[in-house]
Amino acid sequence: MNPILILHGPNLNLLGEREPQVYGNLSLAEIDRRLKALGGELGLEVRTFQSNSEGGLIDALHDARRWAKGVAFNPGGYTHTSVALRDAISAIGLPVVEVHLSNVHAREDFRRHSFIAPACVGSISGFGWRSYVLALHALAGLISDSTKP
Ligand code: DQA
Repeated sequence: MNPILILHGPNLNLLGEREPQVYGNLSLAEIDRRLKALGGELGLEVRTFQSNSEGGLIDALHDARRWAKGVAFNPGGYTHTSVALRDAISAIGLPVVEVHLSNVHAREDFRRHSFIAPACVGSISGFGWRSYVLALHALAGLISDSTKP
């Protein structure tokens, strides 16, 4: 099983109660449970972590470089503000997929710019909790390609 990290940023601990019309009705715990089950089918050992602080997310990315083969990362509001998170992604040398539940391009203008995106292999936005599902499939494919002789 290839280990991967699913990393959730600020306010995502409130999924299910936070603006459900935008982010859906599922709790973070339920999303994580579904992703771990799907990961098993894809040959991925899924570990999950959430932090409301930029430093906590940076530490989790640094730590992941020691054990993970890839990261699916929803940086929440830090997407639109954080040079430090972008630098952390560039620093760890792992494939990172940017994930958003909502379609950030169909919302306020400030959400259309991501500091994170240029450091990521790709971005998935707008499919609700299934954005994470798509990211898992993307990571499984990338990891499989990278381990072929
Ligand atoms: C989000 C989109 C961000 O703009 C917002 O700040 C979030 C959640 C999403 O998953 O759609 O907190 O990353």
